Amino acid sequence: MRTQVLQLGSFLPALEQGLEQRFDLHRWPDEVPEQAWLAQRAPAIRGLVTGASLGVPNATLARLPALEIVAINGVGFDRVDLPYARERGIRVTNTPDVLTDDVADLALGLVIGLLRDLPAADRYVRDGKWLTGPLPLGRKVSGRRFGIIGLGRIGRAIAVRLAALGPIAYSASAPKANQNQYRFVADPVQLARESDVLVLAAAVTATSRRMVGREVLDALGPDGYLVNIARGTLIDQAALVTALQERRIAGAALDVYDDEPNVPDALRALPNVVLTPHIGSATHETRAGMARMVLSSLDAFFAGASVPNALT
Ligand code: DGY
Repeated sequence: MRTQVLQLGSFLPALEQGLEQRFDLHRWPDEVPEQAWLAQRAPAIRGLVTGASLGVPNATLARLPALEIVAINGVGFDRVDLPYARERGIRVTNTPDVLTDDVADLALGLVIGLLRDLPAADRYVRDGKWLTGPLPLGRKVSGRRFGIIGLGRIGRAIAVRLAALGPIAYSASAPKANQNQYRFVADPVQLARESDVLVLAAAVTATSRRMVGREVLDALGPDGYLVNIARGTLIDQAALVTALQERRIAGAALDVYDDEPNVPDALRALPNVVLTPHIGSATHETRAGMARMVLSSLDAFFAGASVPNALT
């Protein structure tokens, strides 16, 4: 019998076809398969593939007694409980590095798009408003002070890009070795106070979860901008909406949200935001590279070889 693998969510055809060629593949469109389906199929499932923003809840893992590996098609692992997986002896893998440039490129695009109001400029031309007069002025990007929360692989790639535009400071749990070209500011509130543009690039941990709330936003202040390409749960989203409505910060560009794909009406109604639908790694090239990594992790695992990018 072929190895039984459960796929949660949908992926690039190259990944789904690769999975189909190798395994007896069962697909489920979201992270919670129906109980009746589980009762019939779950006992034989040995592998599970899921997206980084979908993850898999422990309640589903608990229904899969034969599960040996969870392969995440993405870098973030905040929606998979690693300690629980470890306890069960389940290997968890992800796809780091291959998507770093794309996410950093998007961060740079969001910074420029937000300060120069590129979405409004595009609408202005399409709607024929240029004929009635010029678009209101934007804000200069070059020369701004950039603060980055989280200087891991993606944070560093963002710093390299933004360093062409202005001075960089960062917050992290400790100063990073060999990154002395960037100023370390331990306290995120202090970093926000000293930044014109604050970019979130941190992983979600017990410490970083909801770290951007009223205090950080007020420190950023009415001329400050927030950009988030990491995870919605780093921010107190309600506090952000209020700060934007009250103009206590100048604007925000967001690729990630609390409850994707649901974006609150209050956020969508704001003029001082740029919103993208979690597209950090969403290019043909990168998604193809991620698909190759997922397949090679599964191949290695089921061949009994050492598994690249193992998180557990
Ligand atoms: C991931 O893979 O975790 C990122 O969210 C890509 O945007």
